[in-house]
Amino acid sequence: MQEKLIDGKLVSAHLREKLTKEVKELKASGITPGLVVILVGEDPASQVYVRNKERASRRLGMNSGTIQLPAGTDERELLSQIDRLNNDPACHGILVQLPLPAHINEKKVLMHIRPEKDVDCFHPQNVGKLVAGDPYVLPCTPAGILEMLKFYKIQTAGRHAVIAGRSNIVGKPMANLLVQKNDTANCTVTVVHSRTPDIAAFSRSADILIAAIGKPRFFKADMIKEGAVVIDVGINRIGADNEKGYRLVGDVDFDDVLPKVSMITPVPGGVGPMTITMLLFNTVTVARHTN
Ligand code: GUN
Repeated sequence: MQEKLIDGKLVSAHLREKLTKEVKELKASGITPGLVVILVGEDPASQVYVRNKERASRRLGMNSGTIQLPAGTDERELLSQIDRLNNDPACHGILVQLPLPAHINEKKVLMHIRPEKDVDCFHPQNVGKLVAGDPYVLPCTPAGILEMLKFYKIQTAGRHAVIAGRSNIVGKPMANLLVQKNDTANCTVTVVHSRTPDIAAFSRSADILIAAIGKPRFFKADMIKEGAVVIDVGINRIGADNEKGYRLVGDVDFDDVLPKVSMITPVPGGVGPMTITMLLFNTVTVARHTN
């Protein structure tokens, strides 16, 4: 079982070690990479993510701040906070935690972040560059997946990658990255989603399956090809008889598919730690280039 695991914590540790050195060098030259996360509201899952992001950036020696705004914050107030950070030279990366409350226009907010500080790669200018094969920074979760594939020397060229989910955060950028003409891509890409009549008909032919649909344990052994590489992006809370009252499971039924796969990411400990690591990586990249 161990030899089949794609260990996101291990890959993260390697990358964070390199990043720590880089932060030290930047600081010696007078630049401390700075990341500011804005959280609107009290969504418990978002609060956990935001706390983890802040802790991880501090551990690396970066400057890190969180702006916590009440759920009722109006859009103008949020935009003026972004304005201030756009003009603050100590802030290299701005991340507005999604989802935002329904009364705030997400598109407008994401457009407001200066593209140079857009460490999520959500601004249309950066999305455009990504699609054109000339990325500024890579979106964190897809970038983390590429790093894991690279670390474990998983071949992508010529292989069929099936991506389940078409979100702007994971599915769409992942598809765009894997179809690119370069050494970490060159895949044949299929995207399946909620309106695909028979998802299994596609997932069964996936050499690499990337599951990002937010449905607990959706993918079972009979939906997976023998020897497939499975990347599980899902983080779903299901009821459990423990202190918290819940536990986390992925979009893939891990125990069911394990005998069939060649490699698989666990949940937790797979994609999750990589997403945060790539956010730190992007912030350091921006700090290096803008000073
Ligand atoms: N919410 C869940 N994942 C993410 C992410 O990667 N970036 C932002 N900004 N919000 C999120």
